[in-house]
Amino acid sequence: VYTIQADKIKTPIQKTMYGIFFEDINQAADGGVYAELIKNRSFEFNMPMMAWDDHKKDGGEGRVEVINRATERPENPHFIKAYVTSETGSFGLENEGFRGGTGIKEGETYSFSVMARQNGDSNVKLNIELHGDNDAIIGKADLSAPDKEWNRYSVKFTASATAKKAKVYVWLTGKGVIDLDMISLFPEHTWKNRPGGLRADLVQKLADIKPGFLRFPGGCIVEGRELNTRYQWKKSIGDIDKRTNIINRWNTEFAHRPAPDYYQTFGLGFMEYFMTAEDIGASPLPILNCGMACEFNTSEMVPLDQLDPYLQDALDLIEFANGDVNTQWGKLRTDLGHPAPFNLKLIGVGNEQWGPQYIDRWKIFTKAIKEKYPDVKIVSALGPFPKGPEFDLLNKTFRSLGADILDEHYYASPKWFRDNARRYDNYDRKGPKIFAGEYAAQSVQTGSPLNKNTWECALAEAAFMTGLERNADVVNMASYAPLFAHVDGWQWTPDLIWFDNLKSYGTPNYYVQQLFSLNKGTDVVPLMLGNESVAGQDGCYATASLDKNTNELIIKFVNTAATAQNVSFKIDGGNYQKKATVITLHSEKGSDENSLDNPTAISPVQSNIAVSGKSVNVNVEPNTFKIIRLKSK
Ligand code: AHR
Repeated sequence: VYTIQADKIKTPIQKTMYGIFFEDINQAADGGVYAELIKNRSFEFNMPMMAWDDHKKDGGEGRVEVINRATERPENPHFIKAYVTSETGSFGLENEGFRGGTGIKEGETYSFSVMARQNGDSNVKLNIELHGDNDAIIGKADLSAPDKEWNRYSVKFTASATAKKAKVYVWLTGKGVIDLDMISLFPEHTWKNRPGGLRADLVQKLADIKPGFLRFPGGCIVEGRELNTRYQWKKSIGDIDKRTNIINRWNTEFAHRPAPDYYQTFGLGFMEYFMTAEDIGASPLPILNCGMACEFNTSEMVPLDQLDPYLQDALDLIEFANGDVNTQWGKLRTDLGHPAPFNLKLIGVGNEQWGPQYIDRWKIFTKAIKEKYPDVKIVSALGPFPKGPEFDLLNKTFRSLGADILDEHYYASPKWFRDNARRYDNYDRKGPKIFAGEYAAQSVQTGSPLNKNTWECALAEAAFMTGLERNADVVNMASYAPLFAHVDGWQWTPDLIWFDNLKSYGTPNYYVQQLFSLNKGTDVVPLMLGNESVAGQDGCYATASLDKNTNELIIKFVNTAATAQNVSFKIDGGNYQKKATVITLHSEKGSDENSLDNPTAISPVQSNIAVSGKSVNVNVEPNTFKIIRLKSK
């Protein structure tokens, strides 16, 4: 019999407790949540014509030249000059889209746009075509671009059929020469229907978690392989054709990507991150480069006396997020359409750095930020995995320096997660708070491309998370990582949400995250088996909380054992209604997964049970996560 002391608040659970970690890995941004359908739209890849092929039809002739205007436009140097050399027929360009084609949906309206400039007396016309299965034309539109100066032109059209890997053609007709840049195609229906916005199905999945925070933009992407490819937030805001493209730090991982075709256009930039966080009710948590590239302490580093631009980026970001219109960066935010502040309270200094070099840089950052913004809490990295001398040194040092929040990452076996459900039971209660900033159980081993989002992994995470919640006085934030992966273009597995060009699904791990978040309650109350917290006995893990807003007692119970458990909870304090809600997440086999074809095979099922007086009896099947919600009378 388990005892719950429902009248004895142990600790409040922070609103930020369960959040989201976003990084542009696995095609998460370009080719993923950023709904742009054209790859290499501004010809800024290392090979400027990558993803583009030229074609001729009906006797048309032509060619393109890539022009570099780096002096005039260093942030967007390339455009193409297209020569249509025939009076009749068409010369055209085909874009390969992301991962072998473009996802097009029947009935969806698409917006095609381009920057163009006619040369001399030319009047080259554009004709856009979408080719679906069997090369059928499933959408088309004509566009004139008459000006001799650069101008932006756009046209909308509706697709007549669905295709997962459609081809996009831009045909040019009429003898002459035209300059083209920023060739773009977006669905009209995006998240909140913002033009040039985000994929609605993917952001909806984030919103459905009701996350407490959104950490962005990574991950290692913050650092860059070299400092000049680090994430620089100032280059990610404003007009999209002025956001400098760089190669993605995850371009060359594993064998999936032989060519350098994974770039960051920054169409999803800091403004979009802040706005998305606001949309889904999450506290923004940007992580900034601390003057160290990825990730080893032998990597490129900024000398300590040259850190000023990096520091200024941090200070300016806080002003950008919180400053009013009378400040330089607050004015820019206002000019970009968001006069209200984003209410930034957290900022990360460095991702997975370690060694004395990190501590030296951290001290400089912390001093500068705290002097100007004493209320902003700083998230400090504890290295890549919580063990070993680097971790111990950082942990000790940051504690002695009075750090606010320590970011621990764990990619480990399901067993590690089960065995570490007590990890925080004996942590120092007076020191820094913990942010479990990246974690995921690995079905094979960290870094293996064979890792799967199995039910065993998800259940082990649920077991571990009971320990995070039980220790909510120390653990204030937690997020699974990575978040997104394209089924045809990933570098890292497992991941929380998988998608293709048209569809997406939440893994069992997603539902674990969602259930913890939606059922976190406001305050932890003691749940004991004898004098022990419930963490591992007979393979069972549990935690209980009150939700003061809804007047409910919430019990979370994870049975990782192969046998069912008949569990009785004796509740001290409170007076509950006779019917309780039970939410069950279960699958028969530890190797079970969800998939695009079977997206909710493992997903929550809701039922009711009768509750007698001050006790609850419930049968918890093997391999099951159950949540029981009791409403006060
Ligand atoms: O989540 C993938 C990577 O794992 C992150 O970029 C990095 O912080 C960690 O090593």
